[in-house]
This record gives sequence, C-alpha cells and structure tokens, in this order.
Amino acid sequence: MKIGICSDHAGVEYKAKLISYLLGKGYEVVNFGTDTTDSMDYADVAHPMASAVEKGELDLGIALCGTGNGMAITLNHHRGIRAGLAWNTEVGKLVKQHNNANVLVMPARFISYRMAVSIVRAWLTEPFEGGRHQRRIEKIPVD
Ligand code: RB5
Repeated sequence: MKIGICSDHAGVEYKAKLISYLLGKGYEVVNFGTDTTDSMDYADVAHPMASAVEKGELDLGIALCGTGNGMAITLNHHRGIRAGLAWNTEVGKLVKQHNNANVLVMPARFISYRMAVSIVRAWLTEPFEGGRHQRRIEKIPVD
C-alpha cells in the first residue's frame, strides 16, 4: 500500500517519525514535506498530496498540522478527498469505520507521538462498515 504524508512546521517532527514507523511496517511512503521547522503554509503541501490521492497515485494520505484544521479544511476542498480529523484512538477507528476517510488528519500540537501512532494504526487496520455509512458519504459531494 502506498501512503502519502505531509505536514506543516507544527507537524514535521511527528511526520518524520511516522515515516520511519510506516516504512518499518512495510508501507510504501511518499513524503510531500515540509521537512524543516521553518514556518510554512500547510496548503502548499496539502494540495499536491490531495491531487495524488485523487489521481490514484496514492492509496491513502496522512496530514499533520498544529490543530489539524488547516489541513482538513484544505484537503476537503478536493472532491476526491474525505479528510477526517482524529485526536484519539477511538476517533481514529471511527473515521475509517463510519467516514471511510482516505486522508487521516491529526493535530500534532495537541496529541502525543504515541497517540499519533495509535491513531494511524487504528485508521489503517479498521475496515469501512459500508451500509448506512456508504449512503451518508454519498450525500457529501456538492456540484
Ligand atoms: C501553525 O502555526 C498553525 O496555524 C497550523 O499548524 C495549523 O494549526 C492551522 O490550522
């Protein structure tokens, strides 16, 4: 499975560690940056990663910023993206089970790295439940 990952300066440390974690688990990882703690604009990395997911070049994506909101708002402007914000393990499970999020977003300034790993693991391993949740996600896109 090929996973894209991006962050702004607020999420860069967790991003670097998550790349190692995911590679260690056998995932193919594409890093969209940023790779320094210099202040930058999350949209500059979120849009390229979202486009790659939309084109099918990536199976899934992970995004981190301070609160997660800048990334989530930006990513969800892409029609092919369902970016879900998760801040604990249970929400990490539900964002896949109920929302089938193809991008996981986390608030790096408000969770521990250990929690970030737990959320990623939950989101990657839980199946989408389909059924009523499929009907609900089909109602999301706006023309
Ligand atoms: C950066 O200071 C911060 O605004 C950003 O990481 C994010 O929280 C925005 O939503």
